[in-house]
Amino acid sequence: MKREINTAKPHAARVYDFYLGGKDHFAADRETGQALMRVVPTIRAAARENRAFLGRAVRFLVAEAGVRQFLDIGTGLPSANNVHEVAQGLVPSCRVVYVDNDPIVLAHARALLTSSPEGKTAYIHADLREPGKILADPVTAATLDFSQPIALMLVAVLHFVPDEAQPRQIVDTLLDALPPGSYLVASHVTPEHDPEGVGGLERTYQASGLPAQARTADEFAELAFRGLEMIEPGTVLVSEWRPDHDSVRPLPSEVNWYGAIARKP
Ligand SMILES: C[S@@+](CC[C@H](N)C(=O)[O-])C[C@H]1O[C@@H](n2cnc3c(N)ncnc32)[C@H](O)[C@@H]1O
Repeated sequence: MKREINTAKPHAARVYDFYLGGKDHFAADRETGQALMRVVPTIRAAARENRAFLGRAVRFLVAEAGVRQFLDIGTGLPSANNVHEVAQGLVPSCRVVYVDNDPIVLAHARALLTSSPEGKTAYIHADLREPGKILADPVTAATLDFSQPIALMLVAVLHFVPDEAQPRQIVDTLLDALPPGSYLVASHVTPEHDPEGVGGLERTYQASGLPAQARTADEFAELAFRGLEMIEPGTVLVSEWRPDHDSVRPLPSEVNWYGAIARKP
């Protein structure tokens, strides 16, 4: 697993940081981000909607579902609403294992490790495509109790795992390790509402060396949620998942991003 930072090549975490208005990105990431904005001009607003969904999902899990442990794979660079900040803001004893394969996220991981004294956070530099390694990492067992429910977070990461990489097997391996009553939170870019723009998004990512595959709602549900109990309102645009306000929300073609939560029976 590479640990050196290559600033000449765009990375998903840094392009996303650029969308969110962060500071941890380089020229190559900005160029890719700007090329992506030419094909989907609303991508930055969509990324913010996804990040807000992540925050609401964690709030739901802690406050309503009683979850106290999180395995967050594809964490991204530290930003607003880091999982432990939202979770421990509600219940300080919450525990979080963060996982990402980008060396720059590793370099910034200290900001993810600012746990409340009652809880615990840990970081693993690992790849979602090797779920066995994540589960077998001693840090995972030292942080999470696998006899109690755990929320697996795969937020805005499965679209970086194309079908050739067998994403369903990856999800199965992770879910099999979790006890009943655990949850999966996932979000995913979809081509359904703007096929041309999102097709351009996939091609731009791929041309930059980043594998990307948008999926329809059905494909996303089959990949992530088969065999699980969907939590209301099911698979919807991230902006429509239990929104905080009644304010006017963006059009589907401006969001292009589904999110959902499901429970392992
Ligand atoms: C778009 S960001 C999402 C960040 C955060 N989950 C969110 O939704 O706000 C995607 C993250 O997934 C990471 N990622 C992509 N492919 C991955 C893989 N195969 N294994 C681990 N992390 C991966 C990237 O490095 C990046 O940090």
